[in-house]
Amino acid sequence: MAKLGTWKTGAMRRLEGRTPRQIAALTLKTIRHKVRSFGPAAARARRADQAFDRRWGTDTGGLMNLSALNVARDRALLGNGYQASNGVALEQALAVAGIDPARFTFIDYGSGKGRVVLIAAATGFARAIGVEFAPELHTVALANADRFLAVGGAPQRCEMVLGDAGAYDPPAGPIFAYIYNSFGPVILREVLERLEQRAAAGEEIIAVYVNPRHREAFEEGARWHVIADREDWVLYRPAATAH
Ligand SMILES: C[S@@+](CC[C@H](N)C(=O)[O-])C[C@H]1O[C@@H](n2cnc3c(N)ncnc32)[C@H](O)[C@@H]1O
Repeated sequence: MAKLGTWKTGAMRRLEGRTPRQIAALTLKTIRHKVRSFGPAAARARRADQAFDRRWGTDTGGLMNLSALNVARDRALLGNGYQASNGVALEQALAVAGIDPARFTFIDYGSGKGRVVLIAAATGFARAIGVEFAPELHTVALANADRFLAVGGAPQRCEMVLGDAGAYDPPAGPIFAYIYNSFGPVILREVLERLEQRAAAGEEIIAVYVNPRHREAFEEGARWHVIADREDWVLYRPAATAH
């Protein structure tokens, strides 16, 4: 009974002050999230989670709904909850891009517990950065970065940034941007605008969009060229660069 009372309080707190339309959107998201967590893809993801974390002693697994995390409501409604990448798309996209990762800064927009940031650091990127807006996930990501360095997973420590992906200014130099369907088109456009500005200033930018549900954000206005188009991911370069 006490448990039910606690659940009710938490759920009601998350719905407080929302419009009926926002409540409907949130409910739909929660249902989708629950359904996904029982499917075969979720079972495969759970096995991958366990294998990675068993190997490195990290905590990168699980699913987490944004409504359960301490993030600004208006931004949470534009984003998707946590589910880690398994690294396959990154490996495939890197092979197609044919770049030397040592020349690039890797940025994961919406990095959660940081698994793909750890994988990028191990792959040899000059810097590996994760940007995550949920403080609970960011705290786990920081511990994972420490652990990964301590057990020799990567030669340098990953950089975990707490903040909104749409407001994050990427560092100078060549950038490999990684976006795993972390948010909808509104935030995606904010991220792309900052990358486009860098490209217009002459910086080399490559972006891989995994589980690409909002390709229109990249492809409207022909500001990005498709370099490779696979079932699970699309590789882009901004039209503004000559690289
Ligand atoms: C599908 S998970 C991807 C996790 C990670 N990129 C990976 O591939 O392993 C989406 C993540 O994006 C985060 N997220 C959603 N909207 C965000 C925003 N506006 N700014 C920063 N992080 C965001 C969520 O909290 C969640 O951790």
